[in-house]
Amino acid sequence: MTEISTVLITGGAGYVGSSLVPKLLKEGYHVKVLDLFLYGEDLFDEFQDNPYLTLIQGDIRDQELLRTSLAGCDAVIHLACISNDPSFELDKELGKSINLDAFEPLVDIAKSSGVRRFIYASSSSVYGIKKEKNVTEELELEPLTDYSLYKAQCEEILLKKREEGFVTLVIRPATVCGYAPRLRLDVCVNILTCHAYHTGKMKVFGGEQLRPNLHIEDMTELYLQSLRWPDGKIDGKVFNVGYENYSVRNIGHIVESAVGQHVETVVTPSDDLRSYHISSEKIREELGFEPRHSIEDAVEGLIEAFKSGKVPEAMDNKRYYNIKMMQAVHLK
Ligand SMILES: NC(=O)c1ccc[n+]([C@@H]2O[C@H](COP(=O)([O-])OP(=O)(O)OC[C@H]3O[C@@H](n4cnc5c(N)ncnc54)[C@H](O)[C@@H]3O)[C@@H](O)[C@H]2O)c1
Repeated sequence: MTEISTVLITGGAGYVGSSLVPKLLKEGYHVKVLDLFLYGEDLFDEFQDNPYLTLIQGDIRDQELLRTSLAGCDAVIHLACISNDPSFELDKELGKSINLDAFEPLVDIAKSSGVRRFIYASSSSVYGIKKEKNVTEELELEPLTDYSLYKAQCEEILLKKREEGFVTLVIRPATVCGYAPRLRLDVCVNILTCHAYHTGKMKVFGGEQLRPNLHIEDMTELYLQSLRWPDGKIDGKVFNVGYENYSVRNIGHIVESAVGQHVETVVTPSDDLRSYHISSEKIREELGFEPRHSIEDAVEGLIEAFKSGKVPEAMDNKRYYNIKMMQAVHLK
């Protein structure tokens, strides 16, 4: 395999991308970000003179734009997505057009442009609710929502497109947590930390459900490594990745002790009792990848960011809340 030097990151101006792009630049990659920049256009201002970074503001459904953007790329990391259930449910047609319909053309154009490696951010939600204690990759997928269903369907499409010289890798990450320049405060650990810090209160829905989490530093380290692992180790493979499988209530305890003062916890019954414990053994055994950052680290990092003013208007600015932004932008 010749080395990968130029990478297109779709959705690179999102939560995961905002932490991944600087990391890849630091490692010497040429990075192209193709994104609608829904959550802020100023994200990469500090890199504006960096010749290794190309920002392309546009839509992954625009096939002409895909052709020009993919020219000269060795790899794609596909993150662009309407990326949570509530945002998806706002406009299902829109969600389908981005999360499913745009996928096959993207893969085809990547292939015909000479891309040699395609990395797809699926989700551990593709499993649905399992009775098995440890959810491993070969278990049947039983997605419960369209968001998860389309993730599963894209996996299938990608695996079909795989061929000699076009290496495919599917990652099924747990819910990501921790601080990033484009912060999401609508994911479990981040929500609880934000509320506990700013209001002294946390609402815990249900509480006993297990939710696997992964620190954003580990998530982005994995994507970095995915450009380096030898073809034979990843080609056509699917890997779960998560770190700690804690109950929501336990996450609440971690948050409370990190905030360092009494936090009132309001437990409300929830109709979202999805509980899953994903196994990340396969990626550890086959690729030697092990997350190194804990939930405590994520919570502490968030609190530090709140304290130092890096997250202004944390409770209300729609930039941190996908559903609020999607309601505001009227994307078609
Ligand atoms: N964050 C998590 O907890 C988590 C967990 C598992 C999987 N994932 C997957 O990882 C990926 C990244 O997640 P994230 O949290 O960074 O999401 P995010 O919502 O923060 O980022 C998605 C980005 O995609 C862009 N985008 C949306 N539609 C687009 C379009 N049509 N054309 C171009 N850009 C478009 C948005 O502007 C945004 O910047 C997603 O595919 C998500 O499903 C995330």
